[in-house]
Amino acid sequence: MTKQPDQPAAQQHIAADRQASLVARYGAAIPPAGPWNDHLSLLLSHRSVRAYAPDPLPAGTLETLVAAGQSAATSSNLQAWSVVAVTDPVKKAKLAEYAGGQKHIEQCPLFLIWIADLARNQRVGAEADVEMESAAYLETFLVAAIDAALAAQNAVIAAESLDLSTVYIGAMRNQPEAVAEMLGLPPATMAVFGLCVGYAAAGAEGQVKPRLPQSAVLFEERYGVADETQLRAAYDVEMGNFSRRQNMPVDSWSARVLERMGPIKSMKGRDRLKEIIRRLGFPLR
Ligand SMILES: Cc1cc2nc3c(=O)[nH]c(=O)nc-3n(C[C@H](O)[C@H](O)[C@H](O)COP(=O)(O)O)c2cc1C
Repeated sequence: MTKQPDQPAAQQHIAADRQASLVARYGAAIPPAGPWNDHLSLLLSHRSVRAYAPDPLPAGTLETLVAAGQSAATSSNLQAWSVVAVTDPVKKAKLAEYAGGQKHIEQCPLFLIWIADLARNQRVGAEADVEMESAAYLETFLVAAIDAALAAQNAVIAAESLDLSTVYIGAMRNQPEAVAEMLGLPPATMAVFGLCVGYAAAGAEGQVKPRLPQSAVLFEERYGVADETQLRAAYDVEMGNFSRRQNMPVDSWSARVLERMGPIKSMKGRDRLKEIIRRLGFPLR
């Protein structure tokens, strides 16, 4: 006879896992407990990793990640994205340089570059002799960029489910034309971000980074900022605690926002992006 699972023990395990996951993500400001399962546990354990072991990925990993990416929703099923997989060390070194010297791009065995891609659908138009009028609009560029982001995030979750680590590289937008040239991108395509994939180097797994309390981001029926000042202050304390746990210089979220969104120089050249995107073949009307 099969042994029945010990229900109270299983429930206790689920409750303990949920509590630990929520505390790691929110510190003191944990939201009320809700339904829980292993998928949620995986999602809440996400962290970006910036140092990789040289170990290769198991055969078929790339294709599995892309299958996960292609399983994401896509606006009107246009599938307006592509991904370029880069493993060549020389290319990765160059891409790391374009990204302001981010060494993890060189270290990771697989660097994925996610492309907002209207070129394929333009080719459909060219073959049918139909002018793709909508391709010229900002809306359609957004469709492609959002599609790419949704696909990439599915790939991230898939990678994490396989004990792989990742970090997004928005700095692919520092020099998009150089990236386009290296990858041979046609007009109406743009590398919107990169993604390092690999096994975390020993000790580099990092810890879950706390997020803003839910009451700062979740509103019922109507947007509101009533308690925001206190909520942000509490979060700054959580982020300070996080930096201490990570043995990093004590940082606050507010300071980071001011530094990243204050001076134009922090945009690292991306303040010129509109003109660059237009030159890449997206008129952005
Ligand atoms: C679109 C995007 C671009 C990012 N670009 C970079 C980057 O260029 N370099 C980097 O080290 N981290 C980058 N990150 C990672 C964020 O810094 C990280 O997700 C954030 O600090 C939260 O930390 P966590 O992912 O560990 O929870 C990027 C994340 C996103 C979503």
